[in-house]
Amino acid sequence: MEQTIKFPVVNLSKLNGEERDQTMALINDACENWGFFEIVNHGLPYDLMDNVEKMTKEHYKKTMEQKFNDMLKSKGLEKLETEVEDVDWESTFYLRHLPQSNLYDIPDMSDEYRTAMKNFGKRLENLAENLLDLLCENLGLEKGYLKKMFHGTKGPSFGTKVSNYPPCPKPEMTKGLRAHTDAGGIILLFQDDKVSGLQLLKDGDWIDVPPLNHSIVINLGDQLEVITNGKYKSVMHRVVTQKEGNRMSIASFYNPGSDAEISPASSLASKETEYPSFVFDDYMKLYAGVKFQPKEPRFEAMKNATAVTELNPAASVETF
Ligand code: OGA
Ligand code: NI
Repeated sequence: MEQTIKFPVVNLSKLNGEERDQTMALINDACENWGFFEIVNHGLPYDLMDNVEKMTKEHYKKTMEQKFNDMLKSKGLEKLETEVEDVDWESTFYLRHLPQSNLYDIPDMSDEYRTAMKNFGKRLENLAENLLDLLCENLGLEKGYLKKMFHGTKGPSFGTKVSNYPPCPKPEMTKGLRAHTDAGGIILLFQDDKVSGLQLLKDGDWIDVPPLNHSIVINLGDQLEVITNGKYKSVMHRVVTQKEGNRMSIASFYNPGSDAEISPASSLASKETEYPSFVFDDYMKLYAGVKFQPKEPRFEAMKNATAVTELNPAASVETF
């Protein structure tokens, strides 16, 4: 696909200089019109990123690749003769950082890898909170507003999904990850700097999110659409498979705590376009069954709790 429009890339170091206003405006435009942007000069140490990438790739080879191939065999997917629409061509595992870390319960991780992921998680948590405050500033909300709304009684949920998208003999037959919007708050993605695959839907076209060395891709989840009363949007995205190369991606989800009460900010609310108010966990229970469906019926269902069951949840998925 030919890429005619330019995916927004934000140089965060410019927030400390003369170009602060333009940079804030670029972030605001990305949040309103893309639901996505890519950040560079974000302050994460490059050697930590390089280390995490290297160890994630080694971990996949050592402990995940065989399982993925066994899965293909057991599901009869090695030849991919017909299109499959209910499987994602990905190999994943999940780390939870907050409210309680499960890092030491995950089998098959070396001590080194655990330590690197712990440091990386902490850095990303700080970055997520800084980004939320930039959004507050652009939205005219007081500093800390979003963090506070995400807090609930136990603080935010923060987790990392580590994925590998192995090469696929027939990319037209399956997606690496089917199209969806993310349910939560703000998502920070460290993606492979060589193998592409992530695409977002903009004005009816699938647009590539280009690999860029040492960048972090940011996108907004459904909760930010609700809180901003639709000023900002969660946007559909997917991962396409590739014939060559194994794509690594590490997606970290900074979400509200399970009992956090989510509602449109009163300064952004309006009667005509009203978004629902709910407890985050109730939204996640609904999302788990309908992740790969459009978000609008979810918002409608949350306006009226009795309508939730009518969405007829399909197969359950990870609730990230
Ligand atoms: C996700 C997601 C994209 C990627 O896990 O929700 O959109 O590139 N991942 O792995
Ligand atoms: Ni996603």
